[in-house]
Amino acid sequence: MAVEREVKGGGRGRAPAKPWGGRFSGRTDPRVEAFTQSVSFDRRLAPWDIRGSIAHAEMLGACRIIPRADAKKIVGGLRAILREVERGRFSFDPALEDVHMNIEAALTRRIGPAGGRLHTARSRNDQVATSVRLWLREEIDRIQAALKGLRKALLRQAERGVDWVMPGYTHLQRAQPVTFAHHLLAYGQMFRRDAERLAEARRRVNVLPLGAGALAGTAHPIDRRMVARRLGFAEVAGNSMDAVSDRDFAVEFAATAALAMVHLSRLGEEVVLWASAEFGFVELPDAFSTGSSLMPQKRNPDPAEIVRGKSARVIGDLVALLALLKGLPLTYNRDMQEDKEPLFDAADTLRACLEVMAGLVDAVRPRPERMAQAAEGGYMTATDLADAMVRRGVPFREAHEAAGRAVRLASSRGVPLSELRPADLKKADPRLRAADLGATALARSVASRRSEGGASRASVLRQIRAERKRLDV
Ligand code: ARG
Repeated sequence: MAVEREVKGGGRGRAPAKPWGGRFSGRTDPRVEAFTQSVSFDRRLAPWDIRGSIAHAEMLGACRIIPRADAKKIVGGLRAILREVERGRFSFDPALEDVHMNIEAALTRRIGPAGGRLHTARSRNDQVATSVRLWLREEIDRIQAALKGLRKALLRQAERGVDWVMPGYTHLQRAQPVTFAHHLLAYGQMFRRDAERLAEARRRVNVLPLGAGALAGTAHPIDRRMVARRLGFAEVAGNSMDAVSDRDFAVEFAATAALAMVHLSRLGEEVVLWASAEFGFVELPDAFSTGSSLMPQKRNPDPAEIVRGKSARVIGDLVALLALLKGLPLTYNRDMQEDKEPLFDAADTLRACLEVMAGLVDAVRPRPERMAQAAEGGYMTATDLADAMVRRGVPFREAHEAAGRAVRLASSRGVPLSELRPADLKKADPRLRAADLGATALARSVASRRSEGGASRASVLRQIRAERKRLDV
């Protein structure tokens, strides 16, 4: 059966012609059609695809590669299609494979043969790379805004918790006292690095592939810099073969997203722990917890758990993209169509998690009394006792031994270090003095961590000031 050559004039029930139909005389197997189509997921690229096409058509007209009047018609037609897409009125046809061919076919339906000039000097290979980059650039900006929202929420909680002493943990064992603020500001640092990485990734997204054609460039006298300017790209891809086969930018974004998700997941885990009866460092408000269908008493930290769970997907998205690319020879290969879903998923998931986490961080009600209680146990100031001896010239290793013996004695008597008797101290080490016990007070221990970036109040306030400045608040 002859394939339909005309986009227009296809009667009811007849499949629309493929833009690549010229070489073919037989029909596509319906299974192949369903299998190779990407419009079911790449349709979300439509607005960016159209913007790319508008810039391309304007350039073709300006360079007299196509008649200026046709360029104008194309741009007018594309603008009308864009409005349809934005209103949800555009109907996508899977028989037309992908978003690019759907829009081109709609254009020709709308404006006639002039529509057939749009694809001059380009290929879907440079076109799809351009659309994805335009979409991702905007998506990164939205993610940056969400990230900023979370960082501000962390900062607000940190500012409240400057004087709330809590245990700092290693191995999930109480280690040394810190403050709630210091702990939250650690997450502030992680998310600041994520923001930096995103900005860095954006630089490499913001490069124009269009003009690479299928792979070798074009014989038409195009002006790529004009297109780049119109689309806001900072650079023009320097090698046409790389331009159509490069998906590094997608991998880089996914890697950044995966790492940000790992940070979110760790924060989610803290919230889960802190909201447990065992810790009790925060209380979850109703708006950010859910109940159990069986156990009436339950109040579950589901949003935090789901964030933790969703990190797995984004890690998967990154791995999918890496695996997708690893065996591909230059240049474009259809495998690359599979880049979209992981990329979309990574962006959607990250942004949703950032938004929920920002709300959650704002909403948790800290319980400083529970933090203080937990900080009292665990002999977390044993290091301070050792340091007191070090200040008198005792080598740290020996001081460490002595403080360890003091802890052993205190724990066998069931008392804190501060209640050790002079005789006990002497037993632990004759060089230990009663005055050294003052160093074991929690507040004093925290206050003494004055090293740059340490847990002291001054250091925490410095961190807060720096983060305020970075966030412009
Ligand atoms: N839907 C395709 C993709 O996402 C567009 C490019 C198709 N190019 C081609 N030569 N078949 O990769």
